[in-house]
Amino acid sequence: MKNSINRPRILITHPIFQEGLDRLEQHCDIEYIGDRPAYSPQELLEKLSDKEGALFTPSEKVTSDILQQAKNLKIISNIAVGYNNFDLEAMTQKNIMGTNTPDVLTDTTADLGFALLMATARRMSESERWMRNGQWLKWELGGMLGVDVHHTTLGIMGMGRIGQALAKRALGFDMKIIYHNRTRLSADVESEYQAKYVDKETLLKQADHVILVMPYSPESHHFIGARELELMKPTATLINIARGGIVDDQALASALKNNRIFAAGLDVFEGEPDLISELLQVPNIVLTPHIGSASKMTRYAMMNLAIDNLLAGLHGEKPKNLLNPEAFQRL
Ligand code: GLV
Repeated sequence: MKNSINRPRILITHPIFQEGLDRLEQHCDIEYIGDRPAYSPQELLEKLSDKEGALFTPSEKVTSDILQQAKNLKIISNIAVGYNNFDLEAMTQKNIMGTNTPDVLTDTTADLGFALLMATARRMSESERWMRNGQWLKWELGGMLGVDVHHTTLGIMGMGRIGQALAKRALGFDMKIIYHNRTRLSADVESEYQAKYVDKETLLKQADHVILVMPYSPESHHFIGARELELMKPTATLINIARGGIVDDQALASALKNNRIFAAGLDVFEGEPDLISELLQVPNIVLTPHIGSASKMTRYAMMNLAIDNLLAGLHGEKPKNLLNPEAFQRL
């Protein structure tokens, strides 16, 4: 990698596509993780001590500890829309900008959410396992019965960009839409999606399918636990494409085992990539490994937007997706 005096030094904590590296190499001196295992917090602390910028993913936590020696750091650019891995307050205190990658992944993530909903309602993973096991001997009237998606009620928890993109898809399936959100949407947006605002409890009681698309925060930790699962219909499904930790996975595994709800579709897990063995033991679940935004086009778009944000911050411009404008103003 080239070395010269006026090029900002950056850290890349996760393998990225070659095109992204090529772009960054034109402007920066790069310390790149390559194929080696993830950096430990101690390594991050040391490596950030001489950097001006960094490209992170949700797997790397930004705590005040790892920023202790980051004297020159101006910006950490996250390749993700979610930024619960950032301690934004600690970053702002040190005048370090944080950025994320919204918008470019909205439709791709909504597609995955809808795919997971359909696969869960119609027992697609379970059916495939059963066929692969050679268990399919004849067509049966009562074989692999699922629940319908069309003409049912979809409960969307978190009606931001991805929630609204899900609502758009749901309208095509003649679904009735109810939603819960920290703030109620304007009457115009509600009428665009024919969406009705309800409280959390009403949503859980009335929805045939509950989909979680809200951000993770200490307040949303275990937002769905045993009590909430108890409120849901026994025929309902629960889909989580938001973040691990919003659902109490242990309580969910037990609800699925006891058929308290019909099925679940999960793209995110508490403590991922590890998941509790109880989730692997129940049949009525569809599992995907945090691939909400994982289409080639979208992952390239996320990488490029994260690079745009990083380069803007390093060049003294306000990044498009700045999360803490106070940090920019004080620079
Ligand atoms: C992925 O989970 C993201 O937040 O973009």
